[in-house]
Amino acid sequence: MSAAAKIPALEAREARWTEFLGSVRAQLTPEAKLQEREMLGPRTTMRVGGPARVYAEPATPEDLRRLLVAAGQLQLPVRLLGRGSNLIIPDAGVDGLVLSLNHAHWQQFEARPDGRVWAGAGLRLKNLCGLATKAGFKGFEFLEGIPGSVGGALRMNAGAMGGWMFDVVEEVRVMSLAGEVRDLPKAAMHVAYRHCAELHEAIALGALLRPAASAESADIRRQIDVYQKKRVESQPREPSAGCIFKNPPGNSAGRLIDESGLKGARVGDAEVSAVHANFIINRGRATSADIIGLVRQIRARVKSARGVDLEPEVLLFGQEWRDVL
Ligand code: EPU
Repeated sequence: MSAAAKIPALEAREARWTEFLGSVRAQLTPEAKLQEREMLGPRTTMRVGGPARVYAEPATPEDLRRLLVAAGQLQLPVRLLGRGSNLIIPDAGVDGLVLSLNHAHWQQFEARPDGRVWAGAGLRLKNLCGLATKAGFKGFEFLEGIPGSVGGALRMNAGAMGGWMFDVVEEVRVMSLAGEVRDLPKAAMHVAYRHCAELHEAIALGALLRPAASAESADIRRQIDVYQKKRVESQPREPSAGCIFKNPPGNSAGRLIDESGLKGARVGDAEVSAVHANFIINRGRATSADIIGLVRQIRARVKSARGVDLEPEVLLFGQEWRDVL
């Protein structure tokens, strides 16, 4: 598109945002949050990146449906933000509607009489583990130190300590981008390492989880403590987005980056952690561009030193890695 053509296109887009805000605001419950140009960096663990054109926290499923339908009618892009622990927000921000299931409505934890547990998508994994421990439900311990929410963990099939989210899932309730709610049994979903196909096009509202067994709270706590100790010893404390690359089949991205001599490598304030080489840490004022630059360097070095193509595990919000690498 020529520069001259871009200006009317931008104006038309702005007009659609104005129309969106004008129509949707009155349709939401008073508890819902709707905010223009909300900075997203502070809502992520990496703490980089610009604003969302519009940021919303629906307080009910109906709020969520109305936001989705209104954005769909005006062809405005929609993105979901979990706890922001696996995300890099571009410096320019996101020209989209960014939704967060942060309201208390989405944070339910409910033990069902049949032994299953309903967990809302906005529930923090840490709280899920705490509540499960108290209730004597075993099987969620590996999730404790992952700084995410249930929804994010479903979307990424998050994992640690030899387990991953879908090990404990029986059914996921989703809302399509058209606002329709469906319950998907695990067997109908396409799940793999750090991947869940269905949640690329739909939003997880919550899930029915199946504990592995019942146990004494103190025993469950002991297992959590073992995992916590391992994590504290092997992962950095500074702001990061967790592991930046997926482990290639049969190999460890952290070991490959370490053996390629990259610990301490730096672009601006983004640095390869000396504690675990698959973490890029923010030394204070890193930008998204610093992180992307360092990701490029790491990929190039590991490719030339070890012949392996590393693929990012973290998401670049609103963009595709292949467009920036
Ligand atoms: N290693 C090195 N140098 C390093 C880092 C690791 O030599 O700088 C070696 C370790 O000594 C070990 C091997 O690499 O022999 C694997 O390391 P680690 O046990 O730390 O596990 P990982 O494969 O690097 C995975 C997950 C983590 C999860 C841990 C713990 C991925 C990409 N990473 O890390 O998940 O916390 O296991 O279970 O699957 C995340 O997804 O964001 C994440 C942090």
